[in-house]
Amino acid sequence: MWGAIKKWTGANSSIKTREELVKEIQTLKIPEHVAIITDGNGRWAKKRGLPRTAGHAAGMKSIRETIRAANDLGIRILTLYSFSTENWKRPKEEVDYLMKLPKQFLKTDLKELIDSNVKVQMLGSKEKMPSFTQQALLEFEEKTKNNTGMILNFSINYGARDEILFAIRQIIDEVQKGNIEKEDINEELMNHMLLTRGLPDPDLVIRTSGEIRISNFFLWQLAYSELWFTDLMWPDFTKDTFYQAIHDFQNRSRRYGAV
Ligand code: FPP
Repeated sequence: MWGAIKKWTGANSSIKTREELVKEIQTLKIPEHVAIITDGNGRWAKKRGLPRTAGHAAGMKSIRETIRAANDLGIRILTLYSFSTENWKRPKEEVDYLMKLPKQFLKTDLKELIDSNVKVQMLGSKEKMPSFTQQALLEFEEKTKNNTGMILNFSINYGARDEILFAIRQIIDEVQKGNIEKEDINEELMNHMLLTRGLPDPDLVIRTSGEIRISNFFLWQLAYSELWFTDLMWPDFTKDTFYQAIHDFQNRSRRYGAV
């Protein structure tokens, strides 16, 4: 019943079943915040001779499967970087398709998210989005706002440099109004001015599609995050890949600059 998973960490790679891997993961420290750059939908589709939109449709299955797996493991915060401020430069037809996804996802998945006690939040500006997209996103936030389980952040229309600039402007405002002194500017204040206010930094960042870069994601928050890359395109990312990433993370040594 359980698919065999190849454990690739360590010199002696051994075969573990999914059940064994999950059991082992649960005995180790579960990362509190996992963020994923869900990349490769377009290339996945191209390889199959399909339109890019077919890749995005397939990618929604990976989104659903990953949310379930993260929730089952007891991860407290899952952030999915789904649409950057630069993605508006894509062909109109593709952007139009992407903007319809939140409404579709609302129809198919809101009930399950409510039942699983997941709280959905948006990190990014709803500006520029069509009103039906904004409404779907607002409905997600509104209908799950009292949930106390996993926090699911969708970074949509998000860009880290914009976020940092916005924070700097807010801090300058506060200094100019006399509410704070220049000497009060510290990491804690900066954290408070970012969209991730109140959330811990990601422990682990996963990026699919073989690209080894951060692409304007969480530039402040990633200072000490562990990074994990896979060549798999996002639609090929399954719960097994997710478990492998978590397990690999659990076997790293985090020193935060100390020895
Ligand atoms: C990246 O692949 C993936 C995306 C741009 C998917 C974005 C998904 C959404 C905006 C919808 C999610 C929102 C909700 C609320 C469900 P790519 O197109 O960059 O792939 P490529 O690099 O191969 O071209």
